[in-house]
Amino acid sequence: MNPNKALWEKGDFTRIAESMRESGEGLVKAIGVTKGLKVLDLGCGDGTTAIPEARLGADVLGIDIASNLVEAGNKRVREMGLVNCRFQEGDASDLHGLADKSFDLVVSIFGAMFAPRPFDVAKEMVRVTRAGGRIVMGNWIPGDPTLVAQILKISAAYTPPPPEGFVSPMTWGIEDKVTERFVAAGVPAENVSFLRDTFTFRYHASPSALLDAFRKYYGPTMNAFEAAEKNGRAGDLQKELEALFVSQNKSEDQNTTAIPATFLRVTVKVG
Ligand SMILES: C[S@@+](CC[C@H](N)C(=O)[O-])C[C@H]1O[C@@H](n2cnc3c(N)ncnc32)[C@H](O)[C@@H]1O
Repeated sequence: MNPNKALWEKGDFTRIAESMRESGEGLVKAIGVTKGLKVLDLGCGDGTTAIPEARLGADVLGIDIASNLVEAGNKRVREMGLVNCRFQEGDASDLHGLADKSFDLVVSIFGAMFAPRPFDVAKEMVRVTRAGGRIVMGNWIPGDPTLVAQILKISAAYTPPPPEGFVSPMTWGIEDKVTERFVAAGVPAENVSFLRDTFTFRYHASPSALLDAFRKYYGPTMNAFEAAEKNGRAGDLQKELEALFVSQNKSEDQNTTAIPATFLRVTVKVG
């Protein structure tokens, strides 16, 4: 079994995605999605950004490695009656079924960053984008003090070291590395630009309940707890994460959660 696929099929990311809808919609509005635009949404999950893109009139293909999320995305579009959006299984490191230069915009929000072989990912994204088109990525930033970077950092301390040669997904949050990958794919460095943006996790219950959802449904956190349990350290992990979620919560209402998280927004102009 492909470990990358197994990680994301293990849990149920739809349970976390519920807390990301509002920011997903806001981000899509900010990146200039227009009617008729051909959009590829890579690592689309159940459509947090793909569905808002389709609602703005774009013709959207969502690709994700996890079959349960592809199914969940297709169910959402069926229920909404959206005919200009479909989801299919695929790997961001190898988009062999997709023709060269076939999309105006390739979007990947916290998606392709999790695929192995980052140089192949950049090459594939560039290959399927038409001349004059764009790629927009959202990537978590290593060492950033906000939620997701900290969850991944804390979790790593409880998990066995990754196999030799493994490239951390977090390297997609380092500007020089990102530029290097797109330059290797044939894009001039000056066509790669960066800005810091914010994604707010909004949940209908307390920060502890949101942490519970991560513990039960988010593959990387599930794995960290499994490893910690084996060493009798699950209680420590729970305590560290609980302190993180509570301290980052900005909601004034104790029955809801609002946690802003900083990410690197990458825009690549494909010539
Ligand atoms: C953190 S989730 C983000 C999902 C969605 N973009 C969102 O913002 O809600 C990461 C997604 O990337 C997908 N993914 C991970 N590795 C992938 C790969 N190699 N190819 C395509 N999708 C991948 C996962 O299955 C998961 O849906």
